Amino acid sequence: MRVLIINGPNLNLLGKREPSIYGSQTFEEYLVELRNQFSSIKIEYYQSNIEGEIINALHDAEDKYDGIVLNAGAYTHTSIAIADAIGGIGTDVVEVHLSCILAREEYRHKSLISPKCKGSIMGFGMQSYLLGIYSILDNKK
Ligand code: DQA
Repeated sequence: MRVLIINGPNLNLLGKREPSIYGSQTFEEYLVELRNQFSSIKIEYYQSNIEGEIINALHDAEDKYDGIVLNAGAYTHTSIAIADAIGGIGTDVVEVHLSCILAREEYRHKSLISPKCKGSIMGFGMQSYLLGIYSILDNKK
């Protein structure tokens, strides 16, 4: 079983970026925990601040993974192109967010990618990624 986690813009700053919202752990630290937790799953990780690179990563992931866990960061609210990429590949994508975007500023309430995703998980901090992987596992039963 193979899962790809894609993090979008500014998520490379986790650990120091607005810790009151996103916590104080880096994603690399959390990834160690996640891989230990799911030792039978190959979890690969990609991060980019660039919209087109995220789109390329989605295209490249097709047929290589059982599922993709995507935190598109602020592109969630703006990118029709990422939504189209998700819709254009045959691999399930699970949308995740650390924060509950519905409880934040109004401009974060709308996700352009949600309609193209298998489901959305938000508001559980880093655990949102864990729940995202569980949802892919469950779907493969
Ligand atoms: C985020 C929420 C987005 O609104 C924001 O732009 C992010 C992070 C989250 O994980 O809570 O960069 O996707």
